[in-house]
Amino acid sequence: MTLKLTVIGTGYLGATHAAAMAELGFEVLGLDIDPAKIETLRAGRVPMYEPGLDELLARHVEGIDGSTGRLRFTTSWQEVADFGDVHFVCVNTPQKHGEYACDMSYVDSAIDALAPLLTRPALVVGKSTVPVGSAARLAARVAELAPAGDAVDLAWNPEFLREGFAVQDTLRPDRIVVGVRGGTAEKLLREVYAKPVADGTPFVVADYATAELVKNAANSFLSTKISFINAMAEVCEAAGGDVVKLAEAIGHDDRIGRKFLRAGIGFGGGCLPKDIRAFMARAGELGADQALTFLREVDSINMRRRSHMVELTREACGGAFLGKRVAVLGATFKPDSDDVRDSPALNVAGQIHLQGAQVTVFDPKGMENAARLFPTLAYAPTALEAVRGAHAVLHLTEWKQFRELDPAELAGVAAERVVLDGRNTLDPQLWREAGWTFRAMGRPNA
Ligand code: UDX
Repeated sequence: MTLKLTVIGTGYLGATHAAAMAELGFEVLGLDIDPAKIETLRAGRVPMYEPGLDELLARHVEGIDGSTGRLRFTTSWQEVADFGDVHFVCVNTPQKHGEYACDMSYVDSAIDALAPLLTRPALVVGKSTVPVGSAARLAARVAELAPAGDAVDLAWNPEFLREGFAVQDTLRPDRIVVGVRGGTAEKLLREVYAKPVADGTPFVVADYATAELVKNAANSFLSTKISFINAMAEVCEAAGGDVVKLAEAIGHDDRIGRKFLRAGIGFGGGCLPKDIRAFMARAGELGADQALTFLREVDSINMRRRSHMVELTREACGGAFLGKRVAVLGATFKPDSDDVRDSPALNVAGQIHLQGAQVTVFDPKGMENAARLFPTLAYAPTALEAVRGAHAVLHLTEWKQFRELDPAELAGVAAERVVLDGRNTLDPQLWREAGWTFRAMGRPNA
C-alpha cells in the first residue's frame, strides 16, 4: 500500500514539498491554519511567485480539470491525523523580535495540535530549520501527547531548497539528509524518497543533532562564502582591484568553486541572515559561542554592504540626498522570487529615502510585497518610468530583464547618467558607451 503523506504549513517550503510529493505518486493532504491560503491552493493557485509551482499544483490538485487529484488541502487537524502515515512539518521558524534566537512557536504549536490526535502508527518528520536539540525535545513531546504511544516516531529531514528553484531542488535535491533514532523511521523515509534516491540522490542517515546541524552548517558556509567575497570587494575598492575578475580567478580552483562568489550588496531573504543569527544564539546556549564568533563578522560584513551602497549613492548624488531622485531597480531579495523578506535592495532604498531622496522602485514580481512593507517609497510600472528624472540609478536585484535594458533608451529619460551596480551583473562597457558613469562594488571606476 502506498504511504499517505501530509504536509503541515503551506508556505514556500510546504506548498512545494506537497506538490513534489504528489508528483512522486503519493496521495498528499496539505494543512495550513490560514483558510485564505488553503482556498487559493484548492483553486490550484500559488499564494506566492515560484517558477513552475503553479503547473505542478495544477497537475495534482483535486478538482482541477485533468489533474491526478492526488493533492488536497484542509484546515482540519483531525483530517490530517486520520489520513497520514507520514506528517511533514514545514512551518516557519522566524527570528524572534529583537533577538538573535529563532522563534519555535509555530513548530511547537503544530506538534501540540497534531500529536494528541495521533491514534494510529505515524511518523512525524520535521523539515523546518531549527536550533540543534529541537528534534530530541519534540520527540519527547510527541511521546507524551500521542495516544498511539510508541507507534508514533519522529525524524528530522532538513530542507535545502532555494527560492526561485524550489521545484527543481525538491524533485532533484543535491542530497537528502535524515536524522532518525531507529530503523523504522529510516525505512519509511527511504520509501518516501525512493525515486530521487534511485535517480542518484545521496541519502545521508544521521542522528537528530547531526541532521539539524547539517542545515545550520550549510547555511553558515554559504553566508561565509558571500561575506568573504564581499570583504575582498572592500579590499579591491581600497587597492584599485577588480573583485569580479578576482572571484573568477579563485573560482577556477575546484576546492574553492565559482558559485556563491558574487560580490555586491550582500545576502538577504527569509533564511541565511536569520539562520546564522539563530545558530550563534544556540551555540551560546550550548557554551560553544566561541566556535561561531566568525559568523558575527560574516553578518557585519554583510550589513556593511548595504550602508556602503547608501554612501556610494550619496557620493553619486553630489554629497547630499535632499532634492535628488533615485531610481531603484529591484526590490526582492533575489531574482525569480516575489519575496522581499530582509531584502538588501529594499533596505538600501529605505535608508536613502529616510535620508531625504525621492526614491522610485521597480521590480518585476515584488512590487505588491514591497509596497506593503515600504508604503512610503514610490513605485513605477516599468524600469524606464522608475529611471525618468533620476539623478542616480541603482541596480539592486539581478533580474535578467535588467541585464537586457537598453542603456541608451534610459539615458534619454534620466536627469543624470549615473548608474551603480549593486549586483555586478550589468555590462559596464555597454552602459559607459551609452554615456553613463558606471560604478560597481569592488570594481575600479573607469
Ligand atoms: C538559501 C540556501 O541557498 C538554501 O539552501 C536554504 O535552504 C535557504 O537559504 P535562498 O534564501 O532561497 O536559499 O537564497 P540563495 O539563492 O541562497 O541566496 C541568498 C542571498 O544571497 C540572496 O540575497 C542572494 O542575492 C545572495 N547572494 C547569493 C549573493 O549576494 N552572492 C552570491 O554569490 C550568491
